[in-house]
Amino acid sequence: MMGSLCPLLLPLSFLFLGHLAYPWKCSDEPRSSSLDPTLRYDLPNYVAHGPIQNLISKDGQEPLVFVAITNHLQVLHGSDLRILQSVTTGPTNSSQCSQCSQCKMGSARPDQPEDTESRVLVLDTEEDILYSCGSSLRGLCFLHQLTGAKIADSKCLFNKMENSPLLCRDCVSSPLGTLLTVVTNRHAVYFFLASSVDSLVAGSYSPASVSVRRLLFTEDGFADGFQSLTVLPQFRDSYPIRYLHTFRTEYFVYFLTVQLEEPGGTAYHSRVVRLSAKEGEMRSYQELVLECRFEPKRRWRSAEPLMPTENFNILQAAHVAPVGDSLAGELGLNPEELVLFAAFAQSDPQSIRPRMRSALCAFPLNLINMSIYRSMKKCCSNVESERRLRGLHYFQPEMYCPYNNLSAPVPDRSCWNVPTLVDLPLYHMDLFNGHMDGVLFTSVYVTSQERLTIGHLGTSDGRVLQVVLQRGSNPLTLFNFSLSDTHPVSRDVTRIGDNLLFVTGNKVTQVSVTGPGCRHLLTCSRCLRAPRFMGCGWCKNGCSRQGECQGEWNQQCCSPIITEV
Ligand SMILES: *[C@@H]1O[C@H](CO)[C@@H](O)[C@H](O)[C@H]1NC(C)=O
Ligand SMILES: *[C@@H]1O[C@H](CO)[C@@H](O)[C@H](O)[C@H]1NC(C)=O
Repeated sequence: MMGSLCPLLLPLSFLFLGHLAYPWKCSDEPRSSSLDPTLRYDLPNYVAHGPIQNLISKDGQEPLVFVAITNHLQVLHGSDLRILQSVTTGPTNSSQCSQCSQCKMGSARPDQPEDTESRVLVLDTEEDILYSCGSSLRGLCFLHQLTGAKIADSKCLFNKMENSPLLCRDCVSSPLGTLLTVVTNRHAVYFFLASSVDSLVAGSYSPASVSVRRLLFTEDGFADGFQSLTVLPQFRDSYPIRYLHTFRTEYFVYFLTVQLEEPGGTAYHSRVVRLSAKEGEMRSYQELVLECRFEPKRRWRSAEPLMPTENFNILQAAHVAPVGDSLAGELGLNPEELVLFAAFAQSDPQSIRPRMRSALCAFPLNLINMSIYRSMKKCCSNVESERRLRGLHYFQPEMYCPYNNLSAPVPDRSCWNVPTLVDLPLYHMDLFNGHMDGVLFTSVYVTSQERLTIGHLGTSDGRVLQVVLQRGSNPLTLFNFSLSDTHPVSRDVTRIGDNLLFVTGNKVTQVSVTGPGCRHLLTCSRCLRAPRFMGCGWCKNGCSRQGECQGEWNQQCCSPIITEV
């Protein structure tokens, strides 16, 4: 009977509020069969004439998207993705490339014309300035002034007087990969940079591994005497460091890496690097190993041997976002607390190549801070009975943590100001409980809706999964749809208003944070159990949004035919 069924169907968000048992009658169908992963949604998109190398967006009154491909930087309208402007960035001998001819590089200018592959694209939203750095012209950067919806002026950040093959303060991007976070501090602009290097890259016009450079007020290069760390010559070809993601908070700038556990080793793991955003100096440099694990539960009184703990060692992508109320409660965090959501994969032993097995771990930034603080305190106190190395000996000579003399009249603070590897890894458990088998995550973006925390996970086979993140239960997939049959979802995901922008190959696709639609929910019960923010309701014989339904649409009742018990 219709009347008796109605009260049983509660939207998901209610369940999280009330912690009710699952009361509905129509939940007999297996979950997978009630969700159609083959359905195609027609989504707004933009197709460039080459692979998209970088993408960044500017939200606000006049939303814009910046897309970088070989030799071009394009400006798109943020809501309909129509192209507004295309700036030529190469080849460097092209008469179309006005920014190229502007660079007065003197003898530093390469002899051969070069194509410009985009390596870095970062927006300073406060100043309305876009920075782009490419593969050409010794990896220098351009400063693009935005006026209205246009790149009005581009400046070449290179001063020919100040750069040589041995010391190049304007050489920023590495052919092996570079990440940039821009920090403005007392009106000065600082570039926090991390680059992968080998002996060839580090040998001439070197970008350095990690550096902080101050932009000159004249906007034609960087200040002298910048601080940096670079992998020492004997490790340059045997100890590659891959930088995957960077972000900042009020006090710190972070980089995430994948690297060998130690020089000479064969197994890889993932780390977070942290620098003070206020100091712009290397003395605040710290590294912490991040581990994402899955520990299979032993069945009650089972005689089966315990399965070993699985370690997901290769970081694939990450996003820092405030946690939603429900997950915050489950993880013992304050609502809105900032969490680093990190997607990991497993690799074969001795390999950096990820397998098709993924996990997602949530590291609260406060906990990262606490781990670093505890370790530094231990390093700098005199209660340790064992001598401990500071680590990082691919960057600096081997050093021991000193014992501080407590009877000294002034406690020695200098111990705190030396680059240090935190002694213990920080580990967390896979939020998917080992269920993401046969899947390789390539991107992650986290939003919150109502009280829920929603993970938008891109995969190597071009799909996006939208999943309710919760602890201690199976993941609840809201959407699983394809953006591309040929390309993985790129790590760069950005948000404009209520839309996320995903890149697959040449294409940018716009997907609402509430999902692409409702038609993939095949049964009425599955449709009505969808969280309210998805806006799904039952319409005659299908699940749809209200605007798409001609006829009766409701979010309360399944007709008796469908839900017959
Ligand atoms: C730029 O250099 C390439 C390779 O040397 C050459 O083929 C091309 O004609 C040059 N273009 C211009 C505009 O000089
Ligand atoms: C980091 O942790 C230390 C020690 O608990 C604390 O004093 C400091 O305020 C924390 N910093 C931030 C930015 O949370």
